Amino acid sequence: MTRQEPPFEPAPPRATPADHATRVSRRGLFKGAGAAAVSAALLGARETLAREAAVADEVRTQGPGLVPITLRVNGEERKVQVEPRTTLLSALRLRLDLTGAKPVCERSQCGACTVWLDGQTVYACSVLAVEAEGREVTTVEGLGTPSDMHPVQAAFCAEDALQCGFCTPGMVMACAFAVKQHGKDLTEDQARAAVAGNLCRCGTHPHVLRAALRAAKGE
Ligand code: FES
Ligand code: FES
Repeated sequence: MTRQEPPFEPAPPRATPADHATRVSRRGLFKGAGAAAVSAALLGARETLAREAAVADEVRTQGPGLVPITLRVNGEERKVQVEPRTTLLSALRLRLDLTGAKPVCERSQCGACTVWLDGQTVYACSVLAVEAEGREVTTVEGLGTPSDMHPVQAAFCAEDALQCGFCTPGMVMACAFAVKQHGKDLTEDQARAAVAGNLCRCGTHPHVLRAALRAAKGE
């Protein structure tokens, strides 16, 4: 009898130590990555909470009732009580009796309420009084007095740069800012740009521009 050879069956592939190591390390990697992500998220959340708590400690909660604040207006410290929603314009006019800045549109469109905040023109109707605390506020009353006028105020008189006068305090503040910025080099275009956010219903703009240039040149 001839001996029958068993049919050839190739040996099943074996996992090599290298394969095993690779599989283990992939699984480990995913497990590790998941754990790391969870820990990072927890750490991140903890840090965020800690940061928010620190900010909350620093942030002063104000209102909704009256809040005592100190405003620095025209070089003087003025203590007032305002609601957090009170605008700088209302605080100036109703609490401090500085009525130069005018309420007209009360929505940042006409410029009648223009004052300086830290030397920059702003619409006082669109700044909260509490936001102005600790900053330098200058109103038209602080620019000059009838007996000692600012050059821009004097130039407005000389150039007849007003009719009803309602826009005038805001125009004066905007022009005085342009003169402060450009000095005697102020051009008509720059003056025009300076009062671009100030409307005059009486149409006095040409006189306003002449007044600004006159003040800049020290005439
Ligand atoms: S009242 Fe403030 S811009 Fe008109
Ligand atoms: S002078 Fe009347 S709004 Fe300007």
